[in-house]
Amino acid sequence: MATNKLEDLRNRKAKIEEGGGQKRIDSQHSKGKLTARERINLLFDEGTFVELDAFVKHRCVNFGMEKVDAPGEGVVTGYGLVDGRLVYAFAQDFTVVGGSLGEMHAKKICKVQDLALKMGAPVVGMNDSGGARIQEAVDALGGYGDIFYRNTIASGVVPQISAIMGPCAGGAVYSPALTDFIFMVDKTSKMFITGPQVIETVTGEKVSAEELGGAMTHNKTSGVAHFMSENEEVCIDEIKRLLSFLPSNNMETAPIFNTEDDINRIIPELEEIIPENPNKPYDMKSIISSIADDEDFFEVQPYYAQNMITGFIRINGQSIGVVANQPKFLAGCLDINASDKAGRFIRTCDSFNIPVLTFVDVPGFLPGTSQEYGGIIRHGAKMLYAYSEATVPLVTLIVRKAYGGAYLAMGSKNLGADMVLAWPTAEIAVMGPQGAANIIFKKEIANSEDPQATRAEKIEEYKGEFATPYKAAERGYVDDVIEPSATRPRIVDAFNMLASKRETRPSKKHGNIPV
Ligand code: HXC
Repeated sequence: MATNKLEDLRNRKAKIEEGGGQKRIDSQHSKGKLTARERINLLFDEGTFVELDAFVKHRCVNFGMEKVDAPGEGVVTGYGLVDGRLVYAFAQDFTVVGGSLGEMHAKKICKVQDLALKMGAPVVGMNDSGGARIQEAVDALGGYGDIFYRNTIASGVVPQISAIMGPCAGGAVYSPALTDFIFMVDKTSKMFITGPQVIETVTGEKVSAEELGGAMTHNKTSGVAHFMSENEEVCIDEIKRLLSFLPSNNMETAPIFNTEDDINRIIPELEEIIPENPNKPYDMKSIISSIADDEDFFEVQPYYAQNMITGFIRINGQSIGVVANQPKFLAGCLDINASDKAGRFIRTCDSFNIPVLTFVDVPGFLPGTSQEYGGIIRHGAKMLYAYSEATVPLVTLIVRKAYGGAYLAMGSKNLGADMVLAWPTAEIAVMGPQGAANIIFKKEIANSEDPQATRAEKIEEYKGEFATPYKAAERGYVDDVIEPSATRPRIVDAFNMLASKRETRPSKKHGNIPV
């Protein structure tokens, strides 16, 4: 081949790789942000990334766009290996027309989405964009629509992960929102439907961009995001960690990691963890970590609805989704946000063949008008729905309180749990001893000479009879009452026994989960 043809090719590629040029790259770095290519290089195993569509150009001629050269069309797309596994990715290039999305930019993203769906591999999207390219008008909007459509079709088939690494505004937020997990980077990422200026014009409300749509806002207040990272390097490392817990698609299981951790490890400290006083909190996370392989717990949504814990551990090398009440927050009560968080997480696990382990210490649903008016009935129902429709192995461990509807909602036998274990400290009943005694012993207490003493006596009577795991075990709702120190071997054993679980559901178009 003539040397000049090769040189021409190399020059063209080099020009595209420069993106919006050194000045804009410097400006990107000065904001604490990496470029699209730097992000891609961090994500993929060295030398494995293959770029697609580098030569794609826009065809917009509005507002002088015919003169605008947009290298790579403002987005780098392609595939490669992450820890040896095939992954597709796109990274918007803010140095090129602000990473704005026009018709051809969208087509590049859609191409990797289509390939990922056909090949059964995850898609990682790194978002850093001024949104719809204004000059491209409805073509830009159509491009978003094409992406949303593919996000939805791929949902539950291949894992989709979004990282917000700059602005993500207007309808652009809906592609990440349709994916399985959203990562945000502290200080440099923002997500909102309408920005601070529009809000001030329309409602008069003054709010900063950070307060409105920064990483902590969406991790803690809105629950839109699942992870917050201090910088982009940490964010990309965490994306890889998350991928290690997920299969490549819904027809596979997550990779198994060899562990040196003894599957028969006895944990004597668990005998002491539940306080004598039932109203005293403790940290449920220490129970979760202690039984996990290498005590490693990867928490999902750690800042949102902290009365509910969700995340991943490995048990005997197998990826397991964990759902747990946290007595340290709101006494572990179920509320609207906790129900949404758990319901969504259970469905994510079930979509991707990840067994679910539930830890229960729940006094009930949080009472109050704000919960009722906010629709706790509809939100709480999501948890019931998610457990009932799940066909992955479900193991539940009741460590302390399991009262009323909340007992049922937390992965009970009746909602399909395959194995329910309880510690001797478990209390499984319709309601707690104080409330129950007031109702069922109302007359005895009222007619007694010393109502206070009678009440205390009746509470003790109720506690001895019902605030135990044995009534539930007598009926088979609890499969076994175990010694807390032996929890790890018993959980290992349960998931081993359930490894070949096959459960089908009646054929239907799709269920109608309360939303
Ligand atoms: C075209 C855009 C653009 C856009 C930025 N640019 N956003 N070009 N369409 N949407 C260009 C700028 O003109 C500029 O070009 C370059 O990108 C960098 O932008 P700056 O403004 O200089 O950067 P910065 O000061 O960091 O501000 C970033 C920004 C701001 C906050 C994102 O650019 C901005 O507000 N952009 C508009 C955001 C917006 O309202 N988008 C529409 C959202 S609605 P030069 O040549 O000067 O470097 C939406 C609807 C989607 O997206 C609907 C889907 C259903």
